[in-house]
Amino acid sequence: MIELSEALVTAWTPDPSGGPDTVTRLLGPVTLRLTERRVAVVGANGSGKSTLARLLNGLVLPSSGTVRVDGLDTRTDGPAVRRRVGFVFTDPDAQLVMPTPVEDVALSLRRSVPDAREREARARAALARIGLADRADLPVHALSGGQRQLLALTSVLATDPDVLVCDEPTTLLDLRWRAVVDDLLADLPQQVVVVTHDLDAALHAERVLVVDDGRVVHDGEPSAAVAAYRDLMTSSPVRSGEIR
Ligand SMILES: Nc1ncnc2c1ncn2[C@@H]1O[C@H](COP(=O)(O)OP(=O)(O)OP(=O)(O)O)[C@@H](O)[C@H]1O
Ligand SMILES: [Mg+2]
Repeated sequence: MIELSEALVTAWTPDPSGGPDTVTRLLGPVTLRLTERRVAVVGANGSGKSTLARLLNGLVLPSSGTVRVDGLDTRTDGPAVRRRVGFVFTDPDAQLVMPTPVEDVALSLRRSVPDAREREARARAALARIGLADRADLPVHALSGGQRQLLALTSVLATDPDVLVCDEPTTLLDLRWRAVVDDLLADLPQQVVVVTHDLDAALHAERVLVVDDGRVVHDGEPSAAVAAYRDLMTSSPVRSGEIR
């Protein structure tokens, strides 16, 4: 179970006029217990969604307050938390590190499968399950964006995380690939927390968090949360230069 207690994220920001750096609040304080298997996070650009997502596996640490996963504190038990919580970035290139798909998935299996041949066979099987068998030995950069997104997801899933956090996993994808990824995520046995601008996908979650200006301003069942988000967006139109 994921628990945030008064989690606050701040950053030092330079003063453009040369004065001392100031502390800016990016998110929080947030107090939440996430027990549902499907949680979606929606909100405007710059509202703090990625910051919230990154808190969940210790990629971002709270400046004050705590974030715990199954009782493990992200501050003091970072490696154990990251083994439990897999993170899929918006941009697959941020996490694909090996030259070919089969090597990338095999790398994720290195802890659980010590034998190299067995590891490769399992990696090929995992790629075959998502329809990438015939792409397994191509250079990663030869794959389409959608294929790379699927590969990134497969590599993270190969680590067998208890929880999967995905930061806009379908934003770059066309409708077909979006459907493939949405179906894949829907079928997973793990808890999945998805940051998304796709409100139709958010409606399929069990719980939706609406983030605005670094705060969780609505938290509840999907249709009411999505309606609250739509209201928020229509009541505060973008002004030039406003993305924070
Ligand atoms: N290290 C940092 N220092 C200063 N500001 C930061 C830092 N990290 C994030 N921010 C700011 O915090 C705000 C929230 O960023 P975040 O990436 O969480 O937004 P987001 O809701 O994911 O937006 P998007 O939908 O565009 O991805 C942004 O204004 C961003 O510029
Ligand atoms: Mg983001």
